[in-house]
Amino acid sequence: MSQNTISIGIIGAGGIGNVHMGTLAQVDGAEVTAVADAYQPLAEQRAEEHGIKTVYPDPGALLQDESIDAVVIGVPNKFHAELAVEALGRGKHVLLEKPMAIDSAAARTIYEQAEQSGKVLMMSHQMRWRGLSRAVKAIIESGEVGRIYNAKTGWLRKKGIPGWGSWFTRKDQSGGGPLIDIGVHMLDLSLYLMGNPKPVSVFGSTYAEFGPNKEGIGNWGTPNWDGYYDVEDLASALIKLDNGATLALDVSWAAHSAGLPEEPFIHLMGTKGGISIIGEKGTYVTHKDNQVVETEIAPLEGEEDRILMMKHFIDCIREGKAPITSALSGYTNNRILDAIYESSKTGHEVKLNWD
Ligand SMILES: NC(=O)c1ccc[n+]([C@@H]2O[C@H](COP(=O)([O-])OP(=O)(O)OC[C@H]3O[C@@H](n4cnc5c(N)ncnc54)[C@H](O)[C@@H]3O)[C@@H](O)[C@H]2O)c1
Repeated sequence: MSQNTISIGIIGAGGIGNVHMGTLAQVDGAEVTAVADAYQPLAEQRAEEHGIKTVYPDPGALLQDESIDAVVIGVPNKFHAELAVEALGRGKHVLLEKPMAIDSAAARTIYEQAEQSGKVLMMSHQMRWRGLSRAVKAIIESGEVGRIYNAKTGWLRKKGIPGWGSWFTRKDQSGGGPLIDIGVHMLDLSLYLMGNPKPVSVFGSTYAEFGPNKEGIGNWGTPNWDGYYDVEDLASALIKLDNGATLALDVSWAAHSAGLPEEPFIHLMGTKGGISIIGEKGTYVTHKDNQVVETEIAPLEGEEDRILMMKHFIDCIREGKAPITSALSGYTNNRILDAIYESSKTGHEVKLNWD
């Protein structure tokens, strides 16, 4: 390992931990030197598959290793806060899986620790680095869309409940269902494309019509049929932003949503033009001579989103830069998610105070 190589420890060797190990193998200037998982045999298996030299019996031992510069945390949401806070406290940079935390109180502890530590805390929202997301961001920054005043985003899976009965479907371990799992990606990307306005009020509802009956099960995660399901499987919300814009969010793991695309979508409506993203297809729309004119948006060329995200993490560490998927963005997302759950419970609008 060269002197400037960033030494990385991976905490969590499950589905996403494995993806990060594969990605890091393709990134110059970084090397995964250690791994830890609550289930040690899995950490050992991954170490063998990816050629990682050290397996620690638990995350605490990995975090005590002073030769490790940064960690990637990919464990169930419940453990994000305690591990991220400890890692930052031990002087490590952190790439943290989404959602930032199980709720906004826990997210705040990470945000404050990140501010205090001066280390990089970056959220793992790879969708911002997709070629199409980058093309759309460039169009918006060129001014062609004007002021974005309305947006609709979502991801409506018809049959995609992950790991039924596992941590994914237990509120005390995940914080929620599709809203906190895939909705957070759409929220993050939409707010970023809209220029990061602050959310000021939220109104929403959540439903659980499939999961409790063991219906609508997809193929991510490992089911635990002795487990249980107490999270939503569909959520719908309206978010008002401090620049006057509104953002509608609709997400499901399972739904009778015939006729709607299953891919993630974002529709941005601006004063000069609009942009629609449906899966991998992007369209720019404007009005010319009183006619609607649509043009396809070509994704920007470049490496795969996760590689670009990891390169950004490494650059931020080397250059002491704030990442674009900042701790504040993670905390903001968690506040919106909490407000949607609260609004669903009370039936009322929830106002967000940022003082
Ligand atoms: N960015 C993305 O697109 C994306 C995709 C999938 C998952 N995720 C996120 O990644 C995280 C993990 O999801 P997953 O799908 O890999 O789950 P998973 O269940 O496949 O893996 C989680 C792993 O964490 C281990 N673990 C549990 N508690 C631990 C602890 N306290 N310390 C160390 N290891 C522990 C488990 O043994 C398991 O191997 C979640 O926060 C999830 O939201 C993000």
